[in-house]
Amino acid sequence: MNSAFRTVWWEAGQVCLIDQRLLPDEAIVVRCTTVEEVAHAIRTMQIRGAPAIGCAAAYGMALAAHRAAREATDGDQQRMYDHLTAAKMILDSQRPTAVNLSWATKRVLEAARRLINPSPEAIAHTVLEEAHAILAEDLAMCHAIGRHGVTLIPPRGHVLTHCNAGGLATAGYGTALAPIRKAHEQGRPIHVYVDETRPFLQGARLTAWELQQERIPLTLITDNMAGYFMKRGEIDCVIVGADRIVANGDVANKIGTYSLAVLAHAHGIPFYVAAPSSTIDISLPNGDAIPIEERSPDEVTTCFGRRIAPEGVTAAHPAFDVTPSRLVTALITERGVIYPPFGDQLRQLVVGS
Ligand code: MRU
Repeated sequence: MNSAFRTVWWEAGQVCLIDQRLLPDEAIVVRCTTVEEVAHAIRTMQIRGAPAIGCAAAYGMALAAHRAAREATDGDQQRMYDHLTAAKMILDSQRPTAVNLSWATKRVLEAARRLINPSPEAIAHTVLEEAHAILAEDLAMCHAIGRHGVTLIPPRGHVLTHCNAGGLATAGYGTALAPIRKAHEQGRPIHVYVDETRPFLQGARLTAWELQQERIPLTLITDNMAGYFMKRGEIDCVIVGADRIVANGDVANKIGTYSLAVLAHAHGIPFYVAAPSSTIDISLPNGDAIPIEERSPDEVTTCFGRRIAPEGVTAAHPAFDVTPSRLVTALITERGVIYPPFGDQLRQLVVGS
């Protein structure tokens, strides 16, 4: 599999995605024909990463709309909208923390509702077009994040990242990895310290793979090594993605992000969060209000299907944590770099979009 991969796409009436659970060993394409199959792919993390699950969910809505259109007769608009509303509820409930999911399903539903006296086919067509637009815009936003973020990469270019906020987590190119890719494209020095990111190992499996494809130098580290390398002066800045950024600038991201932000603060290292406006949720005042996904403890007590803890041991698995905005040096968005205080600027970014 080469670097010109696609994360999620629409083909012959199906939602296609690369099964990220099998990477880097196998690049198997999953083909979903029902909204339930897309929901399952999101829940089981065949597709993951906030913007990517937003794109998949938008296409899941298109599957629901096409199916409903096949069964509908003209004048059945309300039935179509009911179907879409039900599909939205199924999709939104799969992963609660990443706001991109409900943002995308809301956006396609609203596009369908704006139509005046549409036929079922027109509704289905509009939903699919909106899903295509979400995918295209996400890719464009990632490139813009790269252009803005590259200005923050220090001359030596030693960047630490967590989880996978690369092309696989988006429509392509990535968020946290976008400034890194841009720096590499520009021939600037860059070296990425990749947290392995227990328990799902997005760093070791996905980020390391993506960077290797691009021939971007990297060092894989376990999550508990970050402080060691910071103390030794090896890390110039941290760049992570986000699953939800709320009104005061608090950031939900992969579990372990908060610990990194505290470490970065203690060592005087800039801590940057890269995210598109689809990740911003100004309806919530602060991070305490963000729903945190609890995943199965089995994902902690096992690794690649093998038990690593004694039988009977209980484990906890909050999949995300919240980094308070006071620990965030700057947010890198498609519109530019935002420095604290974030509140008004975040509002402007969302309202002005
Ligand atoms: O559980 P995941 O793999 O979906 O979590 C992904 C992350 O936390 C990413 O950092 C975040 O979604 C940003 S992706 C551009």
